[in-house]
Amino acid sequence: YPLKNNNSFNIKASCSHIYFPSNLAELQQLPDLTATNFYILGEGSNTLFVEENAPVIIQPKFHGINIDEQAEHFLVTVGAAENWHDLVCFCLEKGINGLENLALIPGSVGAAPVQNIGAYGVEFADFCDEIQWYEFASKTLHTLVKEDCDFAYRESIFKHAFYNKGLITHVSFKFPKAWQPNLSYAGLDSLVKTSSATEVMNQVIALRSSKLPDPKVLPNAGSFFKNPVVSAVEFTQLQQRFPDIPHYPQANGEVKLAAAWLIDQAGLKGFRHQEVGVHQQQALVLVNYGSDLGCDIISLAKYVQRIVNKKFSVMLTPEVRMISAEGEQSFITLND
Ligand code: EPU
Repeated sequence: YPLKNNNSFNIKASCSHIYFPSNLAELQQLPDLTATNFYILGEGSNTLFVEENAPVIIQPKFHGINIDEQAEHFLVTVGAAENWHDLVCFCLEKGINGLENLALIPGSVGAAPVQNIGAYGVEFADFCDEIQWYEFASKTLHTLVKEDCDFAYRESIFKHAFYNKGLITHVSFKFPKAWQPNLSYAGLDSLVKTSSATEVMNQVIALRSSKLPDPKVLPNAGSFFKNPVVSAVEFTQLQQRFPDIPHYPQANGEVKLAAAWLIDQAGLKGFRHQEVGVHQQQALVLVNYGSDLGCDIISLAKYVQRIVNKKFSVMLTPEVRMISAEGEQSFITLND
């Protein structure tokens, strides 16, 4: 089964089996996966197939949006296969505000909790109420409240304790009717406090479109690396050497750095090697000008990682998930 149209990097890969469960009965009919390498694929906008052979693929096809209006808030339950940006637009059209800062993020609703997608000062967890989840071992559905999902920066329980133990079928959101725009992020601070959610969304769309390449035009998977978090001591040393270094202090005293800035300052923005490169407008995005091979992206990513580490002694780790025939791979760093 060809997967070239199922990954936003447009890499050529194929799998021997693919399943599209759309209800509980179909989930229960999935083969026993305990001894099988498999990967749960949404729309493939955060996935890099690193070799031509992919493992068994499960692509959930749960659809539908249900709105339950309460006195103080809206509860919205959404099938995992719905498109994220379409959901953002649908909610705003219904007068349900909250997701406007997360407009135009590629991918499916079911993938959003896994890496707790975030942009422009808002993250998925801010509006998550519950996650409905199918467990392979017991063949039953479970409901997980937000507090049990261990959400953090691009992290959740679905990448750790529940990794490959099941799949997300539905996501429930809670949107308070009392709403104020979140204009804290650079680029939104020019908007007036009385801006509507649609105005915020339009500004987010304009910002993203000006920096981030449209995967349909120039294949990519958004930020390739996470923004690295360093200790206060490491940060002080870095700031002495690089006084302009952008930094975001964390609640625990650590400091988050801007990977895009590190890559940019290392002179790699716009760098191109054959059919792959570092995007001209956003150094955190690796782009595919026309390669069929995931390993070309991996070579470029390792090169970026090495050059940045040389200059700043900071090791970038990927945000994108890397998939081989054996299943998910952790990134092989230059130390290997
Ligand atoms: N910067 C540069 N050079 C560049 C790009 C940015 O020096 O080429 C600097 C900027 O001036 C700024 C800093 O780096 O000081 C951060 O840049 P930006 O605000 O554009 O955001 P980011 O940290 O690069 C993160 C998310 C994006 C999200 C934006 C906006 C991660 C890994 N990435 O990017 O998410 O859209 O903030 O909120 O957290 C994604 O995850 O795929 C993604 C695109």
